[in-house]
Amino acid sequence: MISRKLKKIIEEDKKYLFQNYGDRLPACFVRGDGAYLFDQDGKKYIDFFSGIAVSNVGYKNRALTRAIHAQTDRILHTSNWYYNMEQIKAAKLMSEISFPGKTLFVNSGTEANEAAIKLARKYGLSTSEKRYEIISFKNSFHGRTMGSMTATGQGKIHEGFGPLPPGFIYLPYNDIESFRKEVSLNKNIAAVMIELIQGEGGIIVADKNFVKEVFAICRDSGICTIIDEIQTGMGRTGKLFGYQHYGITPDAITVAKGLGGGFPVGALHTKKEMAEFFTRGTHGSTFGGNHLASAAAIASMGEVKKTSFLKNVKSVGAFFFEQFNQMKKEIPLVKEVRGMGLHIGLELNIPCAELITQALKMGLVINCTAEKTIRIMPPLNIRMSTARVGLRILKRLLIQVQG
Ligand SMILES: Cc1ncc(COP(=O)(O)O)c(C=O)c1O
Repeated sequence: MISRKLKKIIEEDKKYLFQNYGDRLPACFVRGDGAYLFDQDGKKYIDFFSGIAVSNVGYKNRALTRAIHAQTDRILHTSNWYYNMEQIKAAKLMSEISFPGKTLFVNSGTEANEAAIKLARKYGLSTSEKRYEIISFKNSFHGRTMGSMTATGQGKIHEGFGPLPPGFIYLPYNDIESFRKEVSLNKNIAAVMIELIQGEGGIIVADKNFVKEVFAICRDSGICTIIDEIQTGMGRTGKLFGYQHYGITPDAITVAKGLGGGFPVGALHTKKEMAEFFTRGTHGSTFGGNHLASAAAIASMGEVKKTSFLKNVKSVGAFFFEQFNQMKKEIPLVKEVRGMGLHIGLELNIPCAELITQALKMGLVINCTAEKTIRIMPPLNIRMSTARVGLRILKRLLIQVQG
């Protein structure tokens, strides 16, 4: 039953906003606290979605809101014409929590990938072969702007937007033979762009051996390695970044979502030598890393790098996996459990879109991706007790649907 208040909100949404998101789910959240959300009528929900892996440090996180409030009292923006102490501090922290290098701040995930694609072109075109092609993987997702959308290995995302920029090759994920073959035949490859967990693609995890071999081939062939950590970064997988599970160091990572804990900020972080390819005037962004965005990123990074924070991701994540694997045994509807840390996919043998609305009615926020996969991505500091309650709701729902 939709309240009068929500009905009015829906009418105005339809009247005044682009309808590119279609019908939204029937809730308008007005407040959050920890891993809880509250809607327009004051109803309380447990959040297992984090606004698409953004609210990693939880809602109303004190360190984050304090930093943002304090920064708004000082200065919001000056532009990249001037030095910016917050931006420098955020970049220093990025080197600390990932690998030593340099950072370029932008405003979103797609912009971070767009910058990475441009940097890969700059690098590739500087080689004697004047390389410009970028390998990405089928079923990947890298964003919605022209370059990142083209890097995305899903035909349905490209539909209606051609002609797409040239120079992108899509290879099957987790298939080292096709990668090896492409690199041996094609001397025009500048870079590879990869997600270590295909998030939008259904929480498909990259095989360790596949990734290690891809990196060895790239190293031997002078191919730049870019890891899209936009969904897997900032503690989501139980380590600060997904690549840290694989014993590799990429040339570049792209980060967004959890980086600002809800404030829009993205970053391209690379080894020092890669950063040199963006010489004066080759790239830029008016808002990129402004004082407020950087203050949010500093606070967010400060939270996720705490040992206790990652410990929680690991212990709650392990509990989820144990419970989901048990559900898989008990509820035939559950086909597969995939993921790492608190980045979990529960593949069902039926489409899950309808279940999302039912869960909402029961006070649980979950998401459905790749048609049949329930995606579980709670705030990373969710309490075990809250996780337990949310899981109970989800189990009840699955049993109900199973019939
Ligand atoms: C892996 C990955 N890359 C890039 C993006 C695009 O990020 P944004 O929506 O901030 O542009 C997303 C968004 O879902 C993503 O999951």
